[in-house]
Amino acid sequence: MRNDVKEILFSEKMIQDKVEELGRQISNDLGDTNPIVIGVLKGANVFLSDLIRKIDIPIIVDFIAVSSYGLSTESSGVVKINKDLDFSIEGKDIVIVEDIIDTGLTLKYLLENLKSRGPKSIRICSLLDKPERRKVEIKVDYIGFKIPDEFIVGYGIDYAEKYRNLPFIASLKREVYE
Ligand code: IMP
Ligand code: MG
Repeated sequence: MRNDVKEILFSEKMIQDKVEELGRQISNDLGDTNPIVIGVLKGANVFLSDLIRKIDIPIIVDFIAVSSYGLSTESSGVVKINKDLDFSIEGKDIVIVEDIIDTGLTLKYLLENLKSRGPKSIRICSLLDKPERRKVEIKVDYIGFKIPDEFIVGYGIDYAEKYRNLPFIASLKREVYE
């Protein structure tokens, strides 16, 4: 598995420091609003698990599972909800937690879908952002790291369901996915 790694972009320590910073910001901004923090499965699972332990205000955790990629590295723009939220978000402040924003197509769909359920406010927190690749404009409230247009894995993020269990974030050798 580690032989497929080209370069480690963010070490465990770098990720940990950033997650702490994001947790602090979210705690400061959301105070006593009792927000629902929504992890977008499966990619954001590891990030969400660490992030919520750095948020020191009362929250509710929920999950939504979407798929847009199939097993390729390009977003299809077609998003399917594989598992919906357990809770109603009507009148609630919500924070969507994503692993990566790439073209933005997945989040655009998700935002429209969640907006239609009448939440009080929606914030977006993404660990990684690939701004060069954006196809639709999206306002992201909390971003961990901006990264160049390169396919990355680890810390919950996969290529064809592999590499989610790497503890760091790394780029893959091209021959692995081409
Ligand atoms: P978007 O719809 O193009 O913004 O894609 C968003 C989703 O695609 C993310 O939540 C990831 O699950 C996946 N994705 C985008 N870039 C990468 C990458 O470099 N590695 C692995 N998954 C990625
Ligand atoms: Mg994904």
